[in-house]
Amino acid sequence: MKYDKLPLQYKFDQLEPYIDSETVCIHYTKHLQGYVDKLNKALEGYEQFTNGKTLEEILFNIEKTPIEIRKDIIRQGGRVANHNLYFSILDSKPKKYPTGQLLNEINRRFGDFSALKEELSNKSINQFGAGYGWLVIDKKGELDVISTSNQDSPLMFKMRPILTIDIWEHAYYLKYKNLRAQYVKNIWNVIDWNKVEEIYLKECSK
Ligand SMILES: [Fe+2]
Repeated sequence: MKYDKLPLQYKFDQLEPYIDSETVCIHYTKHLQGYVDKLNKALEGYEQFTNGKTLEEILFNIEKTPIEIRKDIIRQGGRVANHNLYFSILDSKPKKYPTGQLLNEINRRFGDFSALKEELSNKSINQFGAGYGWLVIDKKGELDVISTSNQDSPLMFKMRPILTIDIWEHAYYLKYKNLRAQYVKNIWNVIDWNKVEEIYLKECSK
């Protein structure tokens, strides 16, 4: 298996009460595993193309992928990369506020941390249908808040994501039913800014 899901750094029930155990379990072991399996199946026979490349690099250079497997890479590869980021920025004992260089950039770009949270929450809540809300580094190197539809990764648009909120119904429906806004409000309790800062600094150094 060439590409895989990242190991979870917490147990399924450790994001309770904000994200329920059953949702984390099904989301990670069924949905994400399914995307991983479909991606690797689609890439069989394309080892020469994939050798030495991370999934993120492939998505960032989507225009260079073999045309006959591009749709599978966008659909399945996008989902795998998006979920790997999503699950990796959540934590049972998160640092709840950004600090350092990332906080400075947030203050410069959005005014303050609460303004960023409000903008990202609104983008996520108002995204039509399935998709994701994102904090990204855009093409100019600036922080930005966006949302994408379905499986689309910001990497395909030359943006580098550092935080995502999965707003597919499978991420919240068991606990929150149709109340997406409540899920988005609560997820801030388990987003770990240590991890987001780590990703931000790594992406800035590229
Ligand atoms: Fe998901």
